[in-house]
Amino acid sequence: MTSLADQDEATLGGPMSILVRQKRDHVRLDELLHELGTTAGDQQAEVFTQLNRLVFAHAFAEEALLWPVARRVLPDGEAITLEIEKEHQEVNELVVSLEKLEDPEARQPLLDRLVEVLREDVRDEEDVLLPRLQEKLDTRQLVRLGWAWEAVRRTAPTRPHPVVARRPPGNALSSLPLSVLDRSRDHLDRAARRSSPQGTARSRFERASRTLAAAAGALEKLPPFTRGERPDTHRA
Ligand SMILES: [Fe+2]
Ligand SMILES: [Fe+2]
Repeated sequence: MTSLADQDEATLGGPMSILVRQKRDHVRLDELLHELGTTAGDQQAEVFTQLNRLVFAHAFAEEALLWPVARRVLPDGEAITLEIEKEHQEVNELVVSLEKLEDPEARQPLLDRLVEVLREDVRDEEDVLLPRLQEKLDTRQLVRLGWAWEAVRRTAPTRPHPVVARRPPGNALSSLPLSVLDRSRDHLDRAARRSSPQGTARSRFERASRTLAAAAGALEKLPPFTRGERPDTHRA
């Protein structure tokens, strides 16, 4: 079993294969993690938005589509995917904590932990889970899975939702409404950052974004969206 990191595109099933698509996103994630460490203020906030957009849609589509396949075809798929879902859950909780943070002193340790968990997640997927999946699926199946994952990823939520289930049916059901709210907030937040710091436009954009955040917070607690969760997904 060879890590995805040590295989070329052809071995991984070509550019449309799920393995190549995963690796491509992981490389982009690595770039954004570096940028996060070298920026500050509004610039860092923009990198953070891009990071969230990549990470949450990517992980949401893994949880809704890929891990159920892994549980079907791998004898130990349950244990491996649960470990990854725990990492995803921690990432969701860390980003929520960072967004709520009032004490700037507490920011760096949370950011450091976030970077650490994201790197762990990539290693678990590239070194363990995805090579195991590669052993079980042929190229045609890898490509088909690649297209399906891409379709889910493009319409998935772009923000943390620690309350919704990390598994179907809850996460699959919540995907569309949360995605609409998240993507609207991404536009509002970007518009706020582009307007003048003391202007009324900025505060209007920020207020609208907070209203949508409250709506998403209420929505994610609805019973159908928490269905399917394994209780031990949440680390103590
Ligand atoms: Fe991934
Ligand atoms: Fe992941």
